[in-house]
Amino acid sequence: KKSQAWSALFSEPMSELVKRYTASVFFDQRLWRADIEGSLAHAAMLARQGIISPQDQSDIERGMAQVKAEIESGEFVWKSELEDVHLNIEARLTQLVGDAGKRLHTGRSRNDQVATDVRLWLRSEIDQIAPLLADMQRALLAVASHHTETVMPGFTHMQVAQPVSFAHHLLAYVEMFARDAERLADVRKRVNRLPLGAAALAGTSYPLDRESVAKALGFDGVCQNSLDAVSDRDFAIEFTAFASLVMVHVSRLAEEIVLWMSQNFGFIDLSDRYCTGSSIMPQKRNPDVAELARGKSGRVVGHLMGLITLMKGQPLTYNKDNQEDKEPLFDTVDTVKDTLRIMAEMVGGEVDPATGTRTGGLKVKAEAMQQAARRGYATATDLADYLVKKGLPFRDAHEVVAHAVKEGLKLGVDLSDLPLATLQSFHASIGDDVFEVLSLTGSLNARNVIGGTAPNQARAQIERHRARLA
Ligand code: ARG
Repeated sequence: KKSQAWSALFSEPMSELVKRYTASVFFDQRLWRADIEGSLAHAAMLARQGIISPQDQSDIERGMAQVKAEIESGEFVWKSELEDVHLNIEARLTQLVGDAGKRLHTGRSRNDQVATDVRLWLRSEIDQIAPLLADMQRALLAVASHHTETVMPGFTHMQVAQPVSFAHHLLAYVEMFARDAERLADVRKRVNRLPLGAAALAGTSYPLDRESVAKALGFDGVCQNSLDAVSDRDFAIEFTAFASLVMVHVSRLAEEIVLWMSQNFGFIDLSDRYCTGSSIMPQKRNPDVAELARGKSGRVVGHLMGLITLMKGQPLTYNKDNQEDKEPLFDTVDTVKDTLRIMAEMVGGEVDPATGTRTGGLKVKAEAMQQAARRGYATATDLADYLVKKGLPFRDAHEVVAHAVKEGLKLGVDLSDLPLATLQSFHASIGDDVFEVLSLTGSLNARNVIGGTAPNQARAQIERHRARLA
């Protein structure tokens, strides 16, 4: 009795090792829903075109309903000798309905079938990831909305540079995730093309109506070249590139959260539920979730490298190498979904679905942020700008302020703590209006340009993002 779909030609069975090495059913079974959906659309079209009988189609539908029920209830027996999800489902269907099951594969190959399944599956995952990206942005906006006037040091080279608001800082991440959302929508367009009808590689001699199958399955159109249809995995690479950028953005945010929570910064605290303790040091509360999110960016970027390398040497068209597209893609999807969920929660708090209130998000230590900005001469540029307004060329103003900072360092005080007379010794044009300029809030308010850190600019940005996400 034959045990494989193609075994008439073969005179010896596969070794157990080869079976295990070539089988994909233990990971690709997660495509089962897409596989059944694609098969039903294919069968309906075959019947419409008179390629199979209406009776065959209804037998296939009845059998597939049973297969679906068995998979859902966990009764379905997956067999590695049947290699993959496609052959497992088809074999069970045929067991249930006989010849109609054997006719399902008319005008089709596993090559166009698997490409169709992966696209269907990925499309539905994309449609779940898009709202998670929106939630991530909403979480950042929720925190930002309370901190348009909370001053922290902005950094370049990890050295205190100029004061910014905490809202402004978080809004930078909103921009990143907004770009990710645009990229995802763009990737979706190229995922959403139907390979089915390419058959093994050359198209098929049956009068298939590919456009109607595309329509039934919600695809935007059909792949226009059969060779490309079965061998293209660009869409998976593009998705993983999108995911890598998301993870890089998450990782940068996670890194800042770790830094901000350290005793040396003390800018924020995290709820206990996102921290773990140490088995030896009783005082420890570690930001493990943020560290893991940062760490998991490595595996997603690794999957991008894996997929792109998988494709580079493959001659047209389908090669078994392509079976290796699944685990990296699946793990990328799982990692991005979990990471976005947990980061949104940790930053913005858990949302009560009934009231919309958030609990457990970032705890902001505004006083510590402000102290850090004051310690770092963050308003030195403001003093230079002040002198420019009094008529000095910027380069000269820069020089004057450097002397003032040197004096501040010597005395261990901020520029705003130097007496007016001392400041005037650096330049006579300095008047007592300088102290407003040297204040942190004065510095923020002064940067009232689109995209600047002034509180009213940040408020406008928050409104704009909220309207976009509504
Ligand atoms: N399990 C295979 C994959 O994931 C399905 C296609 C196999 N086609 C073939 N001719 N061996 O790529």
